[in-house]
Amino acid sequence: MDEGFELRLIEALQPVRGFALAQGIHHLFGSGLYERIAQGPQQIGALAEALELDASRTSGFLRYLANEDLVALGGDTVALTDKGRALGPYRPWYELLVGGYAETFQQVTDVLRGKGYASRDGRLVGIGSCGISAYDALPLVRGLLTDLPAPPTSVVDLGCGDGTFLTSLVGDSGSVTGIGVDPYAPQEPTAGAVRFVRAGATDYVRQSAAAPDVERDPSRLFLAAFLLQEVLEQEGRPAVVELVRSALAQGGHLAVVEVDHRPDDPQVMRHGLGLAYYNPYYLLHVLTEQRLETERFWQDLFEEAGARVVSRRVVDPRVDSTGLEVGYLLTRQEGAAQ
Ligand SMILES: C[S@@+](CC[C@H](N)C(=O)[O-])C[C@H]1O[C@@H](n2cnc3c(N)ncnc32)[C@H](O)[C@@H]1O
Repeated sequence: MDEGFELRLIEALQPVRGFALAQGIHHLFGSGLYERIAQGPQQIGALAEALELDASRTSGFLRYLANEDLVALGGDTVALTDKGRALGPYRPWYELLVGGYAETFQQVTDVLRGKGYASRDGRLVGIGSCGISAYDALPLVRGLLTDLPAPPTSVVDLGCGDGTFLTSLVGDSGSVTGIGVDPYAPQEPTAGAVRFVRAGATDYVRQSAAAPDVERDPSRLFLAAFLLQEVLEQEGRPAVVELVRSALAQGGHLAVVEVDHRPDDPQVMRHGLGLAYYNPYYLLHVLTEQRLETERFWQDLFEEAGARVVSRRVVDPRVDSTGLEVGYLLTRQEGAAQ
C-alpha cells in the first residue's frame, strides 16, 4: 500500500461525510430538537421526553452532531454551538433539498435507464420551497406588485406549496383575498381571507373559466412561482400557453417566477451558489417531472399566449447574486385573442 492511500481515502470520503451531515441537519430541524436547543441549554433526558424521542438514541444523535461542531455536550446537557446557531435561517434549503429530494437522488440510475420520473416528497417540497421564497421570491413578487397600476383585491396562487407565500402576500393588506391551488395545498380549514384548493393548476383555471358567472376582474392577480416549469413537463408547452392565456382572460395580471436554465454556463457554476445550490437543483429537475427553461423560452411562450411583459425583476443580490431567479409581471397584449 502506498503512503498516500489514507490521505486520499479521507479526501474521497468527504462527500459521504457531507451526505450524512446533510441528513443529520435536516433531522435536527425536523425532529424539533433544534427549536428546543435554540432556546438555551437543555437536559438531554428531559429534552427527549418532551419531544417523545428515545433518550439513548437521541444522545447518540447529539454526540454525532457534537463531533461536527453543531452542538456542544457538557455532562447531561446540550447547547447549540455558534456554528449550529448560524444554521437556523437556512432550514428551508434542507427541507427542500434533503426532505423533498433525498429520495430523488437515490433514484438516479433507475431514471437514467428510462424507468419514468423519480419520486419526491411533495409535502416537504412545498414547505421548503415556500420557506426559501420568504427570502427570495416573495420579496421579488412584492417588488413586481409595485409595478401594478393599483394593488390587487384578490390573488390566486397557482402551485402554492404550503400556502405561506400566499398568506404572507395577502397578510400585507387587510382587504385582499387569496386562493391557493396545489395538489399539496394545506388541508386544514383556514379562517379569514385565504382558502386552499387541492387541485392541479390547469384543471383549476379551466374550471374557473367555465363557471357560468365568470367575468374578467382586472384587480385579480394570478401568481405562478416555480409552477410553469412543473406544468411544462407534466402537460406540455401548449398547456402552459393555455394556462397563461386563460389566467390573463380572468385576471388583470399574472406574476411568474422561474429559474433561468444555465447549467453549462461557467459564470453560474463558478459562483458559490452555482455549485452549492444550482448544480443539485438543476440535477433534480432532470430526474423529476418538471422542466427548467431559459429566459428566451419563457418570453417566446408569453408572447405566444398573448401576454405582454409589464416588468421584469431579479432577486435581491444580497440573497442571490446569480441573477438566475427571474420574476415577470404579465398582462394581456392589446387585441390578444382570449
Ligand atoms: C417549487 S414549489 C413552489 C411553491 C411556491 N409557489 C413557492 O414559490 O415557493 C412547486 C409547487 O408546485 C406544485 N405543483 C406541481 N405540479 C402542479 C400542478 N400541475 N398544478 C399545481 N401545482 C403543482 C408542487 O406541489 C409544489 O408545491
